Amino acid sequence: MSNTLSDELYMRRALELAEKGRYTARPNPKVGCVLVRENTIIGEGWHIRAGTPHAEINALYQAGSLAHGSTAYVTLEPCAHHGKTPPCCDALINAGVNRVVIASEDPYPQVNGKGIECLRKAGINVEVGLMRKEAEELNCGFLSRVRRGRPWVRAKIGMSLDGRTALADGRSKWITSAKSREDVHQWRLSSCAILTGIGTVLADNPQLTARTSHDTGLAPLRVILDSQLRIPLEANVLDKIAPTLIVHRSEAEEIKLPSHINRMSIDTCNNQINLKKVLEDLGNRGINDVFVEAGSVLTGSLLKKGLIDELLVYISPRLLGDQARPMIANVYPESLELSPYFKLVEIVQIDTDIRLRFLPIS
Ligand SMILES: NC(=O)c1ccc[n+]([C@@H]2O[C@H](COP(=O)([O-])OP(=O)(O)OC[C@H]3O[C@@H](n4cnc5c(N)ncnc54)[C@H](OP(=O)(O)O)[C@@H]3O)[C@@H](O)[C@H]2O)c1
Repeated sequence: MSNTLSDELYMRRALELAEKGRYTARPNPKVGCVLVRENTIIGEGWHIRAGTPHAEINALYQAGSLAHGSTAYVTLEPCAHHGKTPPCCDALINAGVNRVVIASEDPYPQVNGKGIECLRKAGINVEVGLMRKEAEELNCGFLSRVRRGRPWVRAKIGMSLDGRTALADGRSKWITSAKSREDVHQWRLSSCAILTGIGTVLADNPQLTARTSHDTGLAPLRVILDSQLRIPLEANVLDKIAPTLIVHRSEAEEIKLPSHINRMSIDTCNNQINLKKVLEDLGNRGINDVFVEAGSVLTGSLLKKGLIDELLVYISPRLLGDQARPMIANVYPESLELSPYFKLVEIVQIDTDIRLRFLPIS
């Protein structure tokens, strides 16, 4: 096998390992590492949870003294600073690794090229960029927070074949199949936060928790945009099962929320909560990605502001007719050329439904 081919093979394995941290690594990035000597994998590791050893350390531990003279394949630049754990660069150098292949640079200010520099200074052959696209996709949330100061926004929409998201009277339970809803719970579990508007809370009284068999001990933050604080005190999202943040207008009339509920007061822009500010604030709280499960009003607002990074659409083979609610409200493109346009990146059949994933074309 050529070197390039085997490099790709090992990096693909490192990406698979990184994916194992999908539900637990946040707010840290998902990282995988493979150590190879004489065409044999001698150590594998991934980052499981913030505060625990990084992927490189776990792989080195498995390899033991065999790590001397090996090549490390890492999906993200190794750290060179003392955080909650010691620098991975030092560990790779001390173990005698002589080549490091890195998929993507880590823009985190304390790393940001320093890891690569540190390894090179120690005489290690460092190559950067193999399967960068895949590695960056894996950490789109972490990278968005570090580079743009705001989380990655993934909007989920469950709709009928004719693009409707609720009946005219607001009922939407359930448009999609039970299997699709199970899939939604997995996405919730992998997200740092779930965002909705007060319209959905009043119509559906959702719990907005990740109900799966997988217990990570990391419940996503429930974020409710409720400018006038209309939320009923008996709403399910005010329970203690998961943390909740209520975002309201600074001048909203005070209501007494339960003491375990966090609140954020935000200035309005044209009488509406400033969505960009909300996202920036969430980024400052270490939120990498936001899973939007809102009605057409909030989804439409996010779209209009260019704040949707990904659409996750579940289509059920059901027709709801033209009186039912649309997918997005208050978006009126002046021409087809000016209409929001997306690139389809994935199609998955789930039971009777189809799940489509789109990225906006800017
Ligand atoms: N099919 C699906 O995937 C799906 C998912 C969720 C919900 N739904 C359905 O959607 C319906 C509710 O839809 P909806 O559109 O009324 O509710 P929504 O989009 O969840 O919430 C809209 C409300 O959020 C508040 N809000 C605060 N800041 C905002 C901003 N910057 N931009 C937009 N809204 C902001 C506004 O109320 P204030 O001005 O009072 O703050 C607004 O009326 C329900 O029938 C529900 O079943 C369907």
